[in-house]
Amino acid sequence: MDYLNYHKEVKPQPQPEGFSKNVQPTKDYFSFGDLNQQTTQPQDELIQLFPTPVLICSCPFEHGEELEWIKKQSYRGENKNIETQEVLNRQSDDTFILDKPEMSRVRQFIDIKLKEFLVNIMGSDNEMIITQSWLNRNGKAESHHEHKHPNSMISGVWYPQIHEKLPPIQFRDSKQRDVSLSIKKFNHFNSTTFMLPMKKGELILFPSNLQHSVPANHSDEERISLSFNTWAKGNLGNEKNLTYLPLDRCV
Ligand SMILES: [Fe+2]
Repeated sequence: MDYLNYHKEVKPQPQPEGFSKNVQPTKDYFSFGDLNQQTTQPQDELIQLFPTPVLICSCPFEHGEELEWIKKQSYRGENKNIETQEVLNRQSDDTFILDKPEMSRVRQFIDIKLKEFLVNIMGSDNEMIITQSWLNRNGKAESHHEHKHPNSMISGVWYPQIHEKLPPIQFRDSKQRDVSLSIKKFNHFNSTTFMLPMKKGELILFPSNLQHSVPANHSDEERISLSFNTWAKGNLGNEKNLTYLPLDRCV
């Protein structure tokens, strides 16, 4: 199994000032044990180039009312993968769920965390707008095929009904090489898949081009999630760098 279980394997690291508590630093110091101890040389420095930010946030309020409202929404009927015949999760008919007044507390929580992701992690002053948002229900045997979210910058999922025994969200590295080493212990450098078991009320934010899926639910308990996409407000890039994207000319 070529995966790393993030919650169970990775210990918290000291955080640079200004980062949220769950964000991993991008620079590690490590030792080759006896090799370094025999010398007076400084320890080697291991740098993680181009790390992928994935942020997990706890829900700051009890969300029983929101969950009851979510369960009453209408959902599309049975959804099957034509090729594999896998039974896929059911999605809400409404795909602007976060625009509803009943979801205002959830919307506020997500807006705050999106801003933290942009400012603290991406170092950006762009404002991110939530575009579409929809509900997913995974009953017994239902899964969600591997996919990305096109036409979105940062995507997220909020989990009103889940626990760590229900299927995790699974991310896969699409840049993996066509070589396979004999791995004795999985870590951030040699894992091609990360499985993140989620807790009730948690929110996860990630770049929309990161491949992800949900394995089949083997439990009798239903897994319910709310997914959303985003786009930056206003024009992008700048004229000097020849990256200017005047979106106001495109409408
Ligand atoms: Fe997704």
